[in-house]
Amino acid sequence: MTSQWWRSAVIYQIYPRSFADASGDGVGDLIGITNRLDSLRDLGVDVVWLSPFMTSPQKDAGYDVADYCDVDPIFGTLADFDAMLARAKELDLRVIVDLVPNHSSDQHPWFQDALAAVPGSRERARYMFRDGRGEGGEEPPNNWQSLFGGPAWTRVTEADGTQGQWYLHLFDASQPDFDWSNEEVREEFRRILRFWLDRGVDGFRVDVAHGLVKRDGLPDYTPPEDGDSMGGIEPAPYFGQDGVHDVYRDWRKVLDEYDGERALCAEAWMPTVDEIAKWVRPDEMHQAFNFAYAMTRWNAGDLREVIIDSLRAFPDVGAPATWVLSNHDVIRHTTRLALPADVPQGHGIGPKTPDLPDTAVGLHRGRAATTLMLALPGSAYLYQGEELGLPEAVDLPDDARQDPTWFRHNGERYGRDGCRVPIPWEAGVPAYGFNRTGETWLPQPDDWAEYARDRQAGVEGSTLELYRTLLRLRREFGLASGELEWAEAAPDDVVTFRVGEVTVIANLGEQAVPLPQGADVLVSSGPLDGGALPNDTAVWLRGA
Ligand code: GLC
Repeated sequence: MTSQWWRSAVIYQIYPRSFADASGDGVGDLIGITNRLDSLRDLGVDVVWLSPFMTSPQKDAGYDVADYCDVDPIFGTLADFDAMLARAKELDLRVIVDLVPNHSSDQHPWFQDALAAVPGSRERARYMFRDGRGEGGEEPPNNWQSLFGGPAWTRVTEADGTQGQWYLHLFDASQPDFDWSNEEVREEFRRILRFWLDRGVDGFRVDVAHGLVKRDGLPDYTPPEDGDSMGGIEPAPYFGQDGVHDVYRDWRKVLDEYDGERALCAEAWMPTVDEIAKWVRPDEMHQAFNFAYAMTRWNAGDLREVIIDSLRAFPDVGAPATWVLSNHDVIRHTTRLALPADVPQGHGIGPKTPDLPDTAVGLHRGRAATTLMLALPGSAYLYQGEELGLPEAVDLPDDARQDPTWFRHNGERYGRDGCRVPIPWEAGVPAYGFNRTGETWLPQPDDWAEYARDRQAGVEGSTLELYRTLLRLRREFGLASGELEWAEAAPDDVVTFRVGEVTVIANLGEQAVPLPQGADVLVSSGPLDGGALPNDTAVWLRGA
């Protein structure tokens, strides 16, 4: 790979709970990942990113960390991690790990110490403890709501048995927020960065990278009702505060001490690309997820606009544009792009959602969207299972759901479990080959055999073969480091551009559109209709 790999890499997100389970207990693990890594080499990705596998009570699927420098026993051991990393290196795959700095688990020793200590102590100062409002302090310190629902403050019982201070948790009550104005917290995270860098990771995906620093005085704030869980549409006093950037400038210095091009990627869930781009200024992170792109509806005008904005805003600060359609927090794009109405991020869909989309339409659009995305200059993210065309698992029974969003909204929001179901490897065996026992932490739909990897491998026209072809051609034609030129005179419903030798045409309209004559079809997301491109289909051409 060329230097500055983050400018062009395709990064594949492994969600360890649901990738491959060697132990057979129903939750995926590191040995499972190691055993299956060759399939990712075969797919043609450059980097894998692992969602958290560190010690955790798993109240938020591992995004609640109790020990940042160890592996949770359900995922294995540090030795298993080292073996996984060594196998990845053999296969020429880079590895980045998830770092969760906004909050820890309430089982973290620091938080346990804070609970045992008195108000005003050094132990409490590592988190956001405050006295309550009202005479007896019985009201929370402000009106903030948790992003998972309910109040963002929980009151503690002091050592002497009295009702005491409150602590802030932007997420679940089991996820207390650190106080990043405290130098001790900053020093601890430098140590954690070094721990993983010394082990040989290529970088970090930084969780809630727009959080960490809260506005002075913690002023009241009410987010819009229909806002995305993670971003909203207006500046919140707990997101995107200027001071947060100092943290990353500091971390960048730590990474720069290491050889081997280590990189930081921000999960900064801000509403516009210009805001997201602040995380990748030259002395900060290397990449940031383009959530503005991920949340764009299946509409040609909106897509053109976000592509134009992205190819301006990221390069303006010297960073690559990035592209993403799916991850473990959003409705899988094969389903989302066929939803008749917007569902804000985090709210999720389930059996009672009105107007559930047609799976075939969704798959068609999903494949076209990926075909469009993988031609765009910059770096792209894939989420495990999308290369199989997996839809969102909509019919999960209520009693199987695990996302704290579901519980904190009393079942009124389904949350994110539908995109987290263990993925199918082989048709006709227990758990579709996720493990050998058939146990799975979330139930797999009965009709997933057709999505299994072994059913698709080598089958012309399968989603897996489409992804393999797109990734091979993207590399062969150097698309990731190319320049995008818009093609003139495209109909409104069509997105079309050139990158180097390759012309991309995506038809989002109802009518088929004629393809230029004499051009070679390099790859198409679906069957062509003679010399025409049907609706919801995208194609790469040469010689157009
Ligand atoms: C990020 C993670 C999400 C998690 C949250 C709290 O958004 O991607 O899964 O629930 O942070 O850590």
